[in-house]
Amino acid sequence: MRRLQLLGLLALLPAALGHPEASRVRREGEVVKRSVDSFIATESPIALSNLLCNIGSTGCHASGVASGIVVASPDKTNPDYWYTWTRDSALTFKCVVDTFTNSYDASLQAEIQNYIVAQAHLQGVSNPSGSLSDGSGLGEPKFNVDMSQFTGAWGRPQRDGPALRAIALIAYSKWLISNGYTSTASSIVWPVIKNDLAYVAQYWNNTGFDLWEEVSGSSFFTVANQHRALVEGAALATSLGTSCSACSAVAPQILCFLQSFWSPSSGYILANINENNGRSAKDANTLLGSIHTFDPAAGCDAATFQPCSDRALANHKVVTDAFRSIYSINSGIAEGSAVAVGRYPEDSYFGGNPWYLNTLAAAEQLYDALYVWKKQGSITVTSTSLAFFKDFSSSITPGTYSSSTSTYTTLYNAISAYADGYMNIVAQYAQTNGSLSEQFSKTNGEPLSAYDLTWSYAAFLTAAARRAGVVPPSWGAASANSVPAQCSATSVVGSYTSATATSFPPSQTPASSTSAGSSPASSTTATATACSTPTAVAVTFNERVTTQWGQTIKVVGDAAALGGWDTSKAVPLSAAGYTASDPLWSGTVDLPAGLAVQYKYINVAADGGVTWEADPNHSFTVPAACGTTAVTRDDTWQ
Ligand SMILES: *[C@@H]1O[C@H](CO)[C@@H](O)[C@H](O)[C@H]1NC(C)=O
Ligand SMILES: *[C@@H]1O[C@H](CO)[C@@H](O)[C@H](O)[C@H]1NC(C)=O
Ligand SMILES: *[C@@H]1O[C@H](CO)[C@@H](O)[C@H](O)[C@H]1NC(C)=O
Repeated sequence: MRRLQLLGLLALLPAALGHPEASRVRREGEVVKRSVDSFIATESPIALSNLLCNIGSTGCHASGVASGIVVASPDKTNPDYWYTWTRDSALTFKCVVDTFTNSYDASLQAEIQNYIVAQAHLQGVSNPSGSLSDGSGLGEPKFNVDMSQFTGAWGRPQRDGPALRAIALIAYSKWLISNGYTSTASSIVWPVIKNDLAYVAQYWNNTGFDLWEEVSGSSFFTVANQHRALVEGAALATSLGTSCSACSAVAPQILCFLQSFWSPSSGYILANINENNGRSAKDANTLLGSIHTFDPAAGCDAATFQPCSDRALANHKVVTDAFRSIYSINSGIAEGSAVAVGRYPEDSYFGGNPWYLNTLAAAEQLYDALYVWKKQGSITVTSTSLAFFKDFSSSITPGTYSSSTSTYTTLYNAISAYADGYMNIVAQYAQTNGSLSEQFSKTNGEPLSAYDLTWSYAAFLTAAARRAGVVPPSWGAASANSVPAQCSATSVVGSYTSATATSFPPSQTPASSTSAGSSPASSTTATATACSTPTAVAVTFNERVTTQWGQTIKVVGDAAALGGWDTSKAVPLSAAGYTASDPLWSGTVDLPAGLAVQYKYINVAADGGVTWEADPNHSFTVPAACGTTAVTRDDTWQ
């Protein structure tokens, strides 16, 4: 069991230092931040590689799994998760596509292409939920790993799968379009997306099983993602020179229905409605719904339950507080400090324990909120979100606090530390080798249930990206948040056609600055995408390393701008942001978009002596996606 040494230090701090409260809190925050910095540096490559291991046919834990198929976990016994779920796969690939979009990687692209081809096939596999002819088969939650139907009893249908798959495929389509491959998006990806959008527009107003596969009713997570899928689908159709009239007709009605999940009298989001299961409806379903419909351009909009909206923040407190008293590993942790988060307080599966992915979702929602507050330069507190903010400033009152105020600084710093606290819980209970299972014990933190859960790794990677300020592209929420005065149960019967394209053209590398738009079909999109492909990107190198007086940290690598491995031409970083608790060396270099780069940091002593970091070389590809101007590398001395 992993027990970070820093945690021991944390426990000693108050007594050992005997500082006043404010200083103690700040110091604890710094210790947690350092522990989280180091956990993320170690865990990120492990999470990505363990995630890829669970994808067929070449994944190291996916022997016998069809190409492009994601297994939920390699665990085949107690519980047997050796199946592919449409939901888990789509969330995994949304993470992979976002990672790929940020930094081109040919092997990730091959995985994405395999996934799309596999989904095109799966859509046509008749199953106990139905078939493709009337769309009903698209609601089937899981299949065998060879893509055959699973015929056992199950909670079906589950109506989030098609929406989530459409969202993941739309993300890749946007990359294709902005790099000049519109015809690939039109001919190969769109036919798959189109079926899923038709399913949503036709069946959204029917009940189905929730993401935990237990409750038949209407689930916040499902409905929020259905709204997003139709909004984004309509926009994609337009940029492909076609249309999705059902998307545009139905999306506002789904948004209208989505409002019924907010309970003003309870002050939180009801996870499930149109059911009668006797639960409190407090459920991490709602944290996940908010983060997976996060739009960094939508501000703190409450109609779409953006992570920094007053509704979503009030809900964050209610949901996370629901786990404080019921798990002994949370015992004694005060409100406003992070705890281990499960699915819902009444949960009894494996005894009812915290889940890594829900604890990570609690962190991710806060990182999303911090991103937007920083971007807009203010934090707004309303009577709805007051209780959430009081955990960080007991005297706070409703109002808008601009970033120049000390109240903003107090809240921002305290909530950053709070978010890191959730990450630190995961650091504390992850296995020493970085493996993340589904759950960890509420009594002693030992990993439980399925091991190496693919979704746990995806949840870690997205939370870590948000913490680093890396956010997904907008899905257009800001122009799709107007709630109709009267809700109606409008649905549109779709037509479904099997997607027949089974292979992608080779070498779809990022467009170079001059060849963007060279694809024949891209003329239709030139006006739709008002965003240009970069030639150079400002890459900020952040290296955390403790140094002695007189030493300088520099970055050197294979690119000309990084000195071509010549240490005498290495780029010196600045220690302007260096503190004892956060030993940051930082510098920014313009590098050509799309360039694959290898680099290392060196420590140059006062006498000129050079100490190199240990192998391997750091490597990444400078992003070339349309609109990218800057990117950050966060490294720790190795
Ligand atoms: C269908 O939509 C109506 C109008 O929003 C709503 O009242 C009803 O609960 C919805 N039912 C389901 C199952 O989605
Ligand atoms: C990590 O450690 C656990 C516990 O020892 C082990 O079961 C698991 O196989 C390891 N995972 C990897 C990827 O090595
Ligand atoms: C790092 O890059 C240098 C220069 O290309 C190369 O000589 C060295 O082998 C690389 N190190 C590793 C571990 O790949």
